[in-house]
Amino acid sequence: MTKPAGKTKRKNSGSEVWEQDRRHHVHPFHNFVSYDEHGALIMDEGRGAYLTDIDGKRYFDAVGGMWCTNIGLGRQEMADAIADQVLQLAYANPFTDMSNGPAARLSAKLAGLAPGDLNHVFFTCGGSTANDAAFRLIQMYHGARGKKQKRHILCRHDAYHGTTYLAASLSGKAGDRMPDFEYIEDTIHHLTSPNFYRAPEGMDEAGFCDYLIDEMARKIGELGAENIAAFFAEPFLGSGGVIVPPDGYNRRTWELCQEHDIIYLADEVVTGFGRLGHWFVSKDMFDIEPDIITCAKGLTSAYLPLGAVIFSDRMYEVLGNDADRWFTAGNTYSGHPVCCAAALKNIEILQREKIFDNVREVGEYFEAQLKTLLDLRIVGDIRGRLFMMCVVNVMNKETREFFSPEVDIGKRIADHCETLGVIVRPAADLNILSPSLTMTKEDVDHVVASLRTAIERTTGDLIEAGYLDA
Ligand SMILES: Cc1ncc(COP(=O)(O)O)c(C=O)c1O
Repeated sequence: MTKPAGKTKRKNSGSEVWEQDRRHHVHPFHNFVSYDEHGALIMDEGRGAYLTDIDGKRYFDAVGGMWCTNIGLGRQEMADAIADQVLQLAYANPFTDMSNGPAARLSAKLAGLAPGDLNHVFFTCGGSTANDAAFRLIQMYHGARGKKQKRHILCRHDAYHGTTYLAASLSGKAGDRMPDFEYIEDTIHHLTSPNFYRAPEGMDEAGFCDYLIDEMARKIGELGAENIAAFFAEPFLGSGGVIVPPDGYNRRTWELCQEHDIIYLADEVVTGFGRLGHWFVSKDMFDIEPDIITCAKGLTSAYLPLGAVIFSDRMYEVLGNDADRWFTAGNTYSGHPVCCAAALKNIEILQREKIFDNVREVGEYFEAQLKTLLDLRIVGDIRGRLFMMCVVNVMNKETREFFSPEVDIGKRIADHCETLGVIVRPAADLNILSPSLTMTKEDVDHVVASLRTAIERTTGDLIEAGYLDA
């Protein structure tokens, strides 16, 4: 992670809560030096897609929390559903043979929303733990078939699957890899990122797709299909930069997995629950029936933490072939009744308010408006679909050369946006946009106009600092 470029203290610095946070709160993806210096922007209130900080300044949150506040914040109905469940049954042991109504109802609901024979649901506390639990299921599935040697996993550079030991090892974002951390290296294999913007020179999209599929097929040959357990794949790579794989890539990688008895896991932690206008995109956008879908985030629209592993009848039947087999995985809060009640209400709201229609309509407009930024000197690419978008900033549009890391270009632009009252996510050279699914066309105009101003101001700063010619 690069050090943020901002040099001034946060606006709400000096207040007691700001100081408490700075002194005692260690954040996800924490930079010990810059955080100690600058502290955090402390939010106080959320309504719909808007946040208000402790100084009363209002922001449009174009990140949607962290791709997760799908129905928007501050809904009374959600508060009521959560409060009712707290009073009815705040907790019951989920282990082995005890359960609760919301967990049962939600698992049935998810089985109905998921494609094909994905009828079995294991609940976790978030996306990383869903991928971890899925890995355990995969190991058990192969073991139960007498194929314990299937231990290797394929995944991609630029992927993000979370931060547990396994999930961080599966992830392929170079900037997230810390030299002091250990990663599983011997059985996890990263294939080329399906990022067409960075494809080898002179290759068209179809050629790039063939190149990626050939590479995967070669890797399978090299390791031996009999040794490969699974392929973990986000349908669009999210945190790695909203990478939309070339046409046909997702389907062809799935076909390779089918052919070679490799479990295909679709990590729909970001793409699930409407960001691309569908409950899940695997089948609806890519005509794939994965063996496993993992999801989290939009499952509760972040009102409460919850993740889920949804897996197939095929796997379930194999796991049930031995009375001595126990799936010894799970957490105290697996299938937490209050979180499951929140998810059920969230799904009801997504359906009742036809929020996916808004995603399709406003999303098309969002894409078109963002593309108007391509006339700016440092905007190299606008990619993504609908409510999952990304601005790619480059030093040279011709050569696609990035700025050097110390420029911290994404952060500079995000800081200017913040001043203008819009939160966008910096990710090295990129600015990622993943707002609440309730965003309106007026909100889009506000976000795009703010981004234009922020990018222009940043360009001016870089000229002044000598990073760009005048
Ligand atoms: C695709 C994907 N998978 C998994 C995760 C991890 O989820 P969590 O942060 O809930 O553990 C994320 C988080 O951003 C994600 O984007």
